[in-house]
Amino acid sequence: MTKFKRTTITSALPYANGPVHIGHLAGVYVPADIYARYLRLKGEEVLFIGGSDEHGVPVTIRAKAEGVTPQDVVDRYHKIIKDSFEEFGISFDIYSRTTSETHHKLASDFFRTLYDKGEFVEQTSEQYYDEEAKQFLADRYIVGECPRCHAEGAYGDQCEKCGSTLSPDELINPVSKLSGAKPVKRMTKHWFLPLNKHQEWLKKWILENHKEWRPNVYGQCKSWLDMDLQPRAVTRDLDWGIPVPVEGAEGKVLYVWFDAPIGYISNTKELCDKNPRYGNWEKWWKDPETRLIHFIGKDNIVFHCIVFPAMLKAEGSFILPDNVPSNEFLNLEGGKISTSRNWAVWLNEYLVDFPGKQDVLRYVLTANAPETKDNDFTWKDFQARNNNELVAIFGNFVNRTLVLTQKYFDGKVPACGELTDYDKETLKEFSELKSVVEELLDNFKFRDAQKEAMNLARIGNKYLADTEPWKVAKTDMARVQTILYVSLQITANLAIVFEPFLPFSAKRLRSMIAREQFSWDELGRFDLLPEGHQLGKAELLFEKIEDAPIDAQIARLEHIKKENEKKNYQPEKVKETISFDKFEKLDIRVGTVLECVKVPKSDKLLQFKIDDGMGGRTILSGIAKSYPDPAQLVGKQVCFVANFEPRKMMGRESQGMILSAVDADGRLVVVSPSDKVASGACVG
Ligand code: 2FM
Ligand code: ZN
Repeated sequence: MTKFKRTTITSALPYANGPVHIGHLAGVYVPADIYARYLRLKGEEVLFIGGSDEHGVPVTIRAKAEGVTPQDVVDRYHKIIKDSFEEFGISFDIYSRTTSETHHKLASDFFRTLYDKGEFVEQTSEQYYDEEAKQFLADRYIVGECPRCHAEGAYGDQCEKCGSTLSPDELINPVSKLSGAKPVKRMTKHWFLPLNKHQEWLKKWILENHKEWRPNVYGQCKSWLDMDLQPRAVTRDLDWGIPVPVEGAEGKVLYVWFDAPIGYISNTKELCDKNPRYGNWEKWWKDPETRLIHFIGKDNIVFHCIVFPAMLKAEGSFILPDNVPSNEFLNLEGGKISTSRNWAVWLNEYLVDFPGKQDVLRYVLTANAPETKDNDFTWKDFQARNNNELVAIFGNFVNRTLVLTQKYFDGKVPACGELTDYDKETLKEFSELKSVVEELLDNFKFRDAQKEAMNLARIGNKYLADTEPWKVAKTDMARVQTILYVSLQITANLAIVFEPFLPFSAKRLRSMIAREQFSWDELGRFDLLPEGHQLGKAELLFEKIEDAPIDAQIARLEHIKKENEKKNYQPEKVKETISFDKFEKLDIRVGTVLECVKVPKSDKLLQFKIDDGMGGRTILSGIAKSYPDPAQLVGKQVCFVANFEPRKMMGRESQGMILSAVDADGRLVVVSPSDKVASGACVG
């Protein structure tokens, strides 16, 4: 570790075609921010780079759908995303964008350098072309029937119904999403990065020299490197992106995955050019004494461990990443987070529902961080961690300490008297904290590191519960002084150790103990608040979250789930054709419900008494689960098959069958005429 002088931290550039959600925060930005804050607190030279990824086909699709320009789309989301990050305390040194002038120039020059060095291969191949829209079609612009599950509307790169990865050639009956026309094949030229040429050194570099990378990252790299790497196209036929700076490449742009990682470099350059205190941008990217760390999600591993390093190596003057701590995915209430299905907790919306609770979300996302496997975010867990950990342990300890110091010593740090063995034991426990947390943070184990931080609050809480200063105060004020002195030192240590994780709360805590700044090196000391130091005003660090706002979130998700089921509903196939004669045999009538009750001992059956205009009849129907309150049906009109053979169910006779529609979620809904008609009226 000591061989490095400084650290460049990058975090994946999110696509600017939608707001960011908790999955982004948990997977990339909170861990990257914890790491950046930790290194800064240690006094190290750090640069933390972020920005929006603004090119790519999804932006153009959204723009078309909304009837605006791609620039309008990215302007809107760049701002929303940037604001969300700021509000959650993600402490980027710069958050810029890939539509910036600096980036366009740098990415274009980068391509040109590789081109001039002969690092690309040119290939002409057939691709789908839309003759009406007069353009080549990106995979996402071609839709058709999925060759695997036969769902309609599968994209040229993926079927969202069955999740299969596809190529446009595999789609059955492909059509252009732009014009609806049947696309034709046309020849087009592209530039490819020959990853096969890089395979040998990549193998050695990762598989031999970076065995310390997280198992999920190392494993994914290994499975790629065990196969033969293929050349990858780095240009596309598209009118949104960075033009390919080569003659004869009109109408072509750099592939979004070629330009996006270069965005890390461009954003560094933009920052350094504007702020001389950061020095020359090149030292952050070219000095072998700089350590480069990429924080990403697991779907980005191949680009950051294989493709981007190959680009950097091909260019020749750049350093390679030292580590790529990639997380797995965070699920939401058991389901995969999905922008298109609105199955997410959006950061901008969270802040409307839980104002000021940025740290609560940061805490929960780190406590549940998907560091080694996919993990689940649930609102109940969110509430429990807030109430049982942040409030009941951390907040409670700090509050009791500060309130008691106020009460007995007017908010001044008392003198430390003689320490008992128990005091010494407690102090020893937290003096070991620094090395334990450091070891974990240095190895990107943020979840365990935060657990250790919370353990310190646990130690404090237990110390107060065991020593009971509020009781001792009746007999021995000297002892109370010592107890509170020890508790206050633990409090100050909490302000340091939580600083990378919960920056807003740590800041408030510092103001409560009237200390402007701490450095990481002070962690573990028990003379941080000297005798006589006047504390600030005590406030509650965290507050309990009641059931109502949590239930509202759960209800919102349930509603979305239902909506999605309806959207994805595929009606059953139509049954075999029947003749008019057969149809005529069915006698469907309208009846008016006179009574409707549950059949005892059956969870399915409802018993209807129907006015059928012919003296009335009883019909049993298996729709009880869909109508928990059967009385609501009384007075309604329903359709029923009047000549259905009588049947016995649960010992009762049913004289007909009530018609109901099966909704997408399986709910049964009785079929009624749209206006009231005479009881017994024929349906046909
Ligand atoms: O997966 C994504 O959201 C990409 N926009 C990440 C790009 S990371 C980097 F290369 F910029
Ligand atoms: Zn499919």
